[in-house]
Amino acid sequence: MQNYTICNCKKVTYFDVEDVLHQHSDFASVEKAFEDVQKITHCSTGCGGCHDKIMDAISEIMSR
Ligand code: FES
Repeated sequence: MQNYTICNCKKVTYFDVEDVLHQHSDFASVEKAFEDVQKITHCSTGCGGCHDKIMDAISEIMSR
């Protein structure tokens, strides 16, 4: 898996999202996981254009 920037506004990478998920493994749903990721990394608080990409990354990481 190669790292890449998911959120350009807040400079949040795929690995940043993965880190949050691994530290908050008790997430009940993708939506809840997104809230945690957003709270910690501030991703998707700029233009919001990365929202779907972040949701996709979370689903992918959670379904591994
Ligand atoms: S790219 Fe993530 S908020 Fe703009």
